[in-house]
Amino acid sequence: MTAEKIRARLKENGIENDYIETKLLIEEFCGEYSEDKDYDSPRLAEAVEKRCARYPIQYIIGKWWFCRCEFEVNENCLVPRPDTELTVETAVKLLPRNASFADLCTGSGCIAISILDLRSDTRADAYELYPKTLELAKKNAAKNKVSERFSGILGDVLSPDLLEDKKYAAIISNPPYIRTDVIDTLEAEVKQEPRAALDGGEDGLIFYRTIVNNFAKNLDENGVFIFEIGYDQADDLKKIADQSGLSCEIKKDLGGCDRVAILRKND
Ligand SMILES: C[S@@+](CC[C@H](N)C(=O)[O-])C[C@H]1O[C@@H](n2cnc3c(N)ncnc32)[C@H](O)[C@@H]1O
Repeated sequence: MTAEKIRARLKENGIENDYIETKLLIEEFCGEYSEDKDYDSPRLAEAVEKRCARYPIQYIIGKWWFCRCEFEVNENCLVPRPDTELTVETAVKLLPRNASFADLCTGSGCIAISILDLRSDTRADAYELYPKTLELAKKNAAKNKVSERFSGILGDVLSPDLLEDKKYAAIISNPPYIRTDVIDTLEAEVKQEPRAALDGGEDGLIFYRTIVNNFAKNLDENGVFIFEIGYDQADDLKKIADQSGLSCEIKKDLGGCDRVAILRKND
């Protein structure tokens, strides 16, 4: 199978990034990429067929890149998205020196680990409901050499006592935020990611509402919530903030969509 043939197979199955994905598949399963070679690898052929069936490229190659780090990924975690880099960038700017922060719903660990990588003075408690997902986050912390400042904690972020009496300079989260009724309409690849990483309940807001209600008491005096939000959730976040006496600032991503909400105690 040549690179050209693989590209054509991917293209006819509606995969837009056929060039880069062909390169990734060849490099993963056969080592070096060459336009001229005819690759005779059953593993590569199997991977191409999986991708043609719209299985995510990230799960096929078992890794993905986010901010400055490489993450191991599998079916137990959401694939780290470029959109989420704005949450990291916001936290990196806002965290005071030597801060401790919480990352709720950590998944692959991409948010906490990237902040720790960019801010070597900070420490993170990263919370996740599923043991296999938490193991992956811990593995990713080790892979990116931040384990000493990363505590992975198993727990339900919807449980009011989860953070006990800990105090944080920031509580950061990219929680599940898709409305339940929208999930079946998502593209094929996304539907193969864990449903528990996507489903934000009937109105998509259950995690924001519960986290703000339960954990405002866990913020330091000048502490902030930093949330990734859906493009159409800014007004909802403003209402949630208002009901708890917090201010709400919205940041847009590079595509011009509302993407991050920063909630602070009012002066
Ligand atoms: C949208 S994903 C975000 C993952 C990662 N932070 C990222 O940005 O790529 C949400 C994560 O929350 C986890 N999760 C879902 N319900 C949870 C709960 N009640 N308590 C803690 N974690 C939960 C899911 O398993 C998933 O890993």
